[in-house]
Amino acid sequence: MKLKVYRYHQGMDSPRYETFELDPNPGLTVLGALFQFQEKFDDSLAFHYSCRGAVCGTCAMLINKVPRLACRTLVNSLLKGDLKVPIFPYPAMGETVPWDPKNEVLVEPLPHLPVIKDLIVNMDMFFQYYKFIEPVFRPSDVNPEKERLMDPDSVKELELYTNCILCAACFGACPVEGQTQEYLGPAALAKLYRFHIDSREGEQTERLKKADIPNGWWACDAYGNCRRVCPKGVPPITAIEKAVEELNKQRSEDKI
Ligand code: SF4
Ligand code: FES
Repeated sequence: MKLKVYRYHQGMDSPRYETFELDPNPGLTVLGALFQFQEKFDDSLAFHYSCRGAVCGTCAMLINKVPRLACRTLVNSLLKGDLKVPIFPYPAMGETVPWDPKNEVLVEPLPHLPVIKDLIVNMDMFFQYYKFIEPVFRPSDVNPEKERLMDPDSVKELELYTNCILCAACFGACPVEGQTQEYLGPAALAKLYRFHIDSREGEQTERLKKADIPNGWWACDAYGNCRRVCPKGVPPITAIEKAVEELNKQRSEDKI
C-alpha cells in the first residue's frame, strides 16, 4: 500500500506528488500514514492536526478526491473501496494525477482555499464568512428569571447544526464555492440557520435576512455535496433549502 502526497511550497512553479510505501497496519489512518511519511521519508511534510479524534476539525483534506478528516479515515477501508462517497463532480476532482485507487491513497489539500504549504491551506476566507454571519447567541431576554425551556423537537433540529466542527470539508466539496469565491458557503449558512431556529434567540428574523443577499442563501445550487462529505452529519443543504423556502413564502405574502 502506498501514499501519494501533494507537495508544494512558495517559490515552486507547480506542485509535485511524492509516493511513499506504507507499513501495513490494519488500523492505520490517513493521519497515521502522514506521520509515517514524515518519520521515514521527509520530515518537512506540512499538515494540520490536533485532536486525532474527529473533534477539532483541523485535519480535513482531499483524500481520494473526497474532502475527509485524515484522523478518522482508515487506509485499509479506502483501498478496499468501502468509503465511496457519491459526490457531484466539480473541477478540483478532475485535476488528477496518475493514481491507482486499489493500491494508493491520494492525499491533496482541501480545494477552494489557497495552499500555504503541502496539505496546509489558508482558512482565512472560510473564517471570514463565518465571522460575517456573527455566530454569537443574542438572547431575547438577557436575564430570565427561570431557565429558557425548549421543546424537544426543536432541540433535535438545532443539534443537527450545532455538531459542526468547522473543518471546512463542505467548503472544499461545494461546486458553487469553486465558481464564486464570494459565496458564504455551507458551514456559515448552516450556522446562521441554527441561530434563526433557536427559540431562545432574540434576532431570529434578522438572522434570516443576514444572508438574503446574492452570495448568501440564493447562491446555493443544491448540489448536496456538503451533506455527503460532512464528517459530523450536518446537513447544510437542508438549512439552506428551508431558509429559501421561508424567504419565498414571506415574499409572496408581502405581495398579497
Ligand atoms: S458543516 Fe460539516 S463539513 Fe462543514 S465545516 Fe461543519 S463539520 Fe465540517
Ligand atoms: S485531528 Fe482533530 S479532527 Fe482530525
